[in-house]
Amino acid sequence: MSQLTLYGEKIEAYSNNNANKIGDNDKAFHNWYRFVLSFPPHLVRKYIKQFGLDKECTILDPFCGTGTTIIEAKLNGIRGIGIESNPMSYFASKVKTDWGIDWKELQEKSFEIADNARDRIKEDKDRELQSLPEEQQRLLIVNSISPLPLHKSLIIFSEIRRDNDCCVNHQLLSFASATVKYASNLRFGPEVGVFKEKKIDVDIVTSWLKEIKVMVNDLKNCDNCKL
Ligand SMILES: C[S@@+](CC[C@H](N)C(=O)[O-])C[C@H]1O[C@@H](n2cnc3c(N)ncnc32)[C@H](O)[C@@H]1O
Repeated sequence: MSQLTLYGEKIEAYSNNNANKIGDNDKAFHNWYRFVLSFPPHLVRKYIKQFGLDKECTILDPFCGTGTTIIEAKLNGIRGIGIESNPMSYFASKVKTDWGIDWKELQEKSFEIADNARDRIKEDKDRELQSLPEEQQRLLIVNSISPLPLHKSLIIFSEIRRDNDCCVNHQLLSFASATVKYASNLRFGPEVGVFKEKKIDVDIVTSWLKEIKVMVNDLKNCDNCKL
């Protein structure tokens, strides 16, 4: 709590900067993909406790965004149902609550995809950069991604889709997360905005594998995964 002066009057103000932060022990599954509207997992836990919810209950989140509520429900062994109208957030929620895949396969297949993507990026070095079809490019915020990171991202994207293995949805979600975090010029603070253009040649394949590693570790260490 801090003191602010508003129109000459001293008022007490509560800052929710920290209250809304995701705790270090809360990152499993939640951090696979988050957006500015995501609320923190500890808030859901607080209400699970406050309402005395247990395994006999079902939690419904009719506006589930990227899945915070249904992940917390699942982690607590409670049935959760989420509804979400935005296709990307819906996809994130769906994948973030799918813990039934084989993490070893996810790891192995992703290494293969990464090798193929690296080879293609090397081979394509002197060729024309890949870009999006005009109608898709028009949907992007201007300067939100520079031509070279976009080129590399499109190569990884096509390799993931070409492989189309059992883990394709997990690979696509980690790709979306890595692209926003490492390849794009976007920043969130809290609104989305275009920041400085990335001058360094981002190793987007390694960044993508970093996100895959997070998923693999969460799945490997999860006790509730077979629920
Ligand atoms: C504040 S966000 C929820 C964030 C979520 N609790 C989380 O932690 O990720 C509200 C969500 O409601 C979704 N939404 C808005 N209108 C909707 C509707 N009519 N039906 C389903 N979802 C809707 C939005 O797309 C948005 O993702």
